[in-house]
Amino acid sequence: MNQEKTKTEPENDSRREFMMNMSLGLGGLAAIAVSIPVAGALLAPLLEDKPEVWRAVGSAENFPIGSTQLVKFENADPKAWAGTTAHTAAWLRRESTDKFIAFSANCTHLGCPVRWEAEAKLFMCPCHGGVYYHDGSVAAGPPPIALRQYAVRVADGQVQIGTAPIPITNFSDGQKT
Ligand code: FES
Repeated sequence: MNQEKTKTEPENDSRREFMMNMSLGLGGLAAIAVSIPVAGALLAPLLEDKPEVWRAVGSAENFPIGSTQLVKFENADPKAWAGTTAHTAAWLRRESTDKFIAFSANCTHLGCPVRWEAEAKLFMCPCHGGVYYHDGSVAAGPPPIALRQYAVRVADGQVQIGTAPIPITNFSDGQKT
């Protein structure tokens, strides 16, 4: 009996070891099979080209020289599930006959929407008291830099804003601090 036991123990050990290795191997393969599509889904947005799209926001004649008006437009690459987040806004200022500036409606501190106070000629942020001058530069409060600007053009009498997908990544140059 004892002899029988000593014969089967090494067999059991090697079978157990084999089964353990099989379990680990299959577990590893399953983990890889699951993680590849997950990693792909997470990384795909970083690798996609960010389309730049011009959005018409109204006829140029609707914006008197010297005015600053809120305009709303759709993001460059709205997803089917985006809902209201597919829409964004900018403060459009008409400086002269052919010069427009489109300021991002979001404060450069933590992103709260700023409002234009026409009387004071200031942009005010309600969250932490950020204040910007009419040209978007910082007047007071915690904002670290000036309001961001979108590219603007007039085509066929329509004012168009160059927008990018959220998060906005391709603001025009000319940032002021
Ligand atoms: S978010 Fe505008 S001042 Fe903080």
